[in-house]
Amino acid sequence: MAVTKEAVLAGLAAVKSPEGAPLPSTGKLSDIIVSDGKVFFSITVDAAVVQAWEPVRKAAEATVRAVPGVASAMVALTGERSGQGRGGAQPPQAAASPHAGRGRPAAHAAERQPAVPGVGAIIAVASGKGGVGKSTTAVNLALGLRDLGLTVGMLDADIYGPSVPKLLAIRGKPELHGGNRLKPMDGYGLKVMSIGFLVEEETPMIWRGPMVISALTQMLREVEWGTLDVMVVDMPPGTGDAQLTMAQQVPLRGAVIVSTPQDLALIDARRGIAMFNRVNVPVLGLVENMSYFVCPKCGERSDIFGHGGAQHEAERQGVPFLGAVPLHMDIRETSDAGRPVVATEPDGPHARIYREIAARVRDALGAGTSGRAAPKIVIEA
Ligand SMILES: Nc1ncnc2c1ncn2[C@@H]1O[C@H](COP(=O)(O)OP(=O)(O)O)[C@@H](O)[C@H]1O
Ligand SMILES: [Mg+2]
Repeated sequence: MAVTKEAVLAGLAAVKSPEGAPLPSTGKLSDIIVSDGKVFFSITVDAAVVQAWEPVRKAAEATVRAVPGVASAMVALTGERSGQGRGGAQPPQAAASPHAGRGRPAAHAAERQPAVPGVGAIIAVASGKGGVGKSTTAVNLALGLRDLGLTVGMLDADIYGPSVPKLLAIRGKPELHGGNRLKPMDGYGLKVMSIGFLVEEETPMIWRGPMVISALTQMLREVEWGTLDVMVVDMPPGTGDAQLTMAQQVPLRGAVIVSTPQDLALIDARRGIAMFNRVNVPVLGLVENMSYFVCPKCGERSDIFGHGGAQHEAERQGVPFLGAVPLHMDIRETSDAGRPVVATEPDGPHARIYREIAARVRDALGAGTSGRAAPKIVIEA
């Protein structure tokens, strides 16, 4: 018998919070992830009461294991420091509701999730699938925003394949600051945090559901980001439940979707747009990567993948087109060598393209804030 989320929630109604309330009604549950009979979710409570909740976590795990069809259950308990989220329009529980996500119209993510103190706009760079140049675009976009005079942070949320440390040639481990907050690393003037700094290579592959969510929450909220105008988040590729849940954990002001021009990639990009629509995160626009090829010998341009597909798709979907980045050896080599082209060849043609994309993103952020929760920081031209 296939396990459903509803069956899990029904079972959890018998588990009581320390105050005696049925667990599903406490608003402290994350989305429930069910896959192949394995059930994962997390309970997020104030750090001060974590100990009181540990028996609840255990009881929840045991109860879910007893639900017919459940092969295994893992329930993570996450403590959130009180004081966090004071700037948010609603308490964090609202977003952690098990009913958030599918089906219901969700509130705008930046309103549902508490703001990160000191951090202005948080934007996601996402793609429908891997290998389209999402991380390369994210890094060069972040550097482009830096070149516009903004203070920029970079959060590598691609937990399964963190590549930002390599793309920015950052080595070493983040230091602890004060009690248990981490200091971000520096890469070309960007403040950077990645799970790649904290775990050995390969390890993230075994991470699942709630562990990923708590790692993401910690990188977002337990790092001394200081004051940032913009934080660029390199999202994991794809548009499934895991990506959706992650998108819901971050108070996103907008999303940039990266696609290559091929039809298949564009179908995935469409799913990406739909995913952000579902969680009410505005799509700031589409970037067409590997858009066209310029022969390094003769300089002749060829549209090997049918250049322009993403621009048409953007028009069809009614989202802005942010720019076209060519397929070029210089971009690949600099990216893979940890010398991103915007930082190392700032006067070259590629850096210019990325800076133009960055300027459009900045403008979209400036224009896209009216009528929503008041932005903490206004991005200046
Ligand atoms: N515009 C481009 N031209 C040439 N190579 C590119 C371009 N964008 C990305 N690449 C290369 O493609 C590969 C995948 O890019 P990456 O940014 O890691 O993709 P993703 O994060 O989507 O998996 C890398 O080797 C990268 O250097
Ligand atoms: Mg990547």
